[in-house]
Amino acid sequence: MERIWYIKYAPTRIEEFLGNKSQLMKVIEWLKHPKPGKGLLLYGPPGTGKTLSVYLAARTLKMQVIETNASDVRDVEKIKQMASGVGKQKTLFLPNHVILFDEVDGIGGLEERGSIAEIARFIKESRFPVVLTANDAYTNKLRPLLPYCELLKFNKVPIREIYARLKYIAMKEGLEIDEKALKFIADKSNGDVRGAINDLQLLAQTKKHITYEDAINTLGYREYDKEIFEVLPVIFKTLSFKNAMFLASQLNIDFDLLFEWIRENISIEYKDPEDVAKAYYYLARGDLFRKRIMKRQYWRYIVYAQALAIGGVAVAKKQKYPGFTRYQYPLKIRLMKQKKEERDAMKEEMKDLAKKLHASSKKIKDEYSYLLEKLKN
Ligand SMILES: Nc1ncnc2c1ncn2[C@@H]1O[C@H](COP(=O)(O)OP(=O)(O)OP(=O)(O)O)[C@@H](O)[C@H]1O
Ligand SMILES: [Mg+2]
Repeated sequence: MERIWYIKYAPTRIEEFLGNKSQLMKVIEWLKHPKPGKGLLLYGPPGTGKTLSVYLAARTLKMQVIETNASDVRDVEKIKQMASGVGKQKTLFLPNHVILFDEVDGIGGLEERGSIAEIARFIKESRFPVVLTANDAYTNKLRPLLPYCELLKFNKVPIREIYARLKYIAMKEGLEIDEKALKFIADKSNGDVRGAINDLQLLAQTKKHITYEDAINTLGYREYDKEIFEVLPVIFKTLSFKNAMFLASQLNIDFDLLFEWIRENISIEYKDPEDVAKAYYYLARGDLFRKRIMKRQYWRYIVYAQALAIGGVAVAKKQKYPGFTRYQYPLKIRLMKQKKEERDAMKEEMKDLAKKLHASSKKIKDEYSYLLEKLKN
């Protein structure tokens, strides 16, 4: 399997870091002189170097990162253990470590509220530098953390820097790619370095000489659009729960993707504020089930998730809105695509290791993640 380029080409030296240079310096400064009782919360759009800056800073200072992916550490217990264990044994066991709570805004749902409080407690008591990352620092969820955090905002990376990086990678990979195609990728990256590199790799999978047309055709998502534009009007125009649910049972489209389309377009199709509110209410209820499915693999919940997010949204309106609606493309889908690619790659690597070490993938993930890191380098 070919390596993922954004991992292969992740900067190993400070000079290679794009865009958020002063932020990177601040992270380094923080690791050298953390404020007692406080954590450093890096926030901003995806693919701008938040997680990367922690690893790069640690590498520069010869520190080791102990990463706690907040979406994995849903169980409060583990954080509690860390708080009482790791944090207090600095002099004894673990010198030069930095604790990273990655993607803390990924902690969702009611039952996880406790873990945010535990992270706050951990920060208060930790004798290690603590860094956290999130896309949005100001969601309600994270409010309890803010008193214990210094905030550091990451910005979108300038297009011209992304362009230069893409050009470098293309050169290293022996790609022949038209300037215009490179520019197209950089332009549509929206300041997301990872997204741009992913797009380039996706293009390179088919041919070694890439034209502007190739770029547009491959990265335009056209085929998929056609299907969604047949499905959306049915959901939004029907008043029948049954019809909407019948459609759900016939779906060829990934439910998660459809969910994003519905979310993006409710307020475009529905005009009455009461209808909009009701539709989002059902969608949010459906989302709870969806999250539970993802987290705990409770697949039987898919029925409830779909009934709420598709059927519920359909019947949220008092009457049908006539006319043609121009539906909007959800930005989030691009993000989801990237995350999925990342997860898949990680899973493949774990499976591979699991086979070789005669262990389960879960065990590999929990206990041998450092091996995965090593393999990447
Ligand atoms: N500022 C940057 N300079 C160079 N490469 C970058 C930069 N930001 C991101 N990248 C590339 O994108 C990859 C992902 O970056 P990173 O994990 O730091 O994103 P992030 O800001 O944490 O995003 P998310 O919000 O999705 O977690 C890196 O491995 C690197 O290859
Ligand atoms: Mg990150």
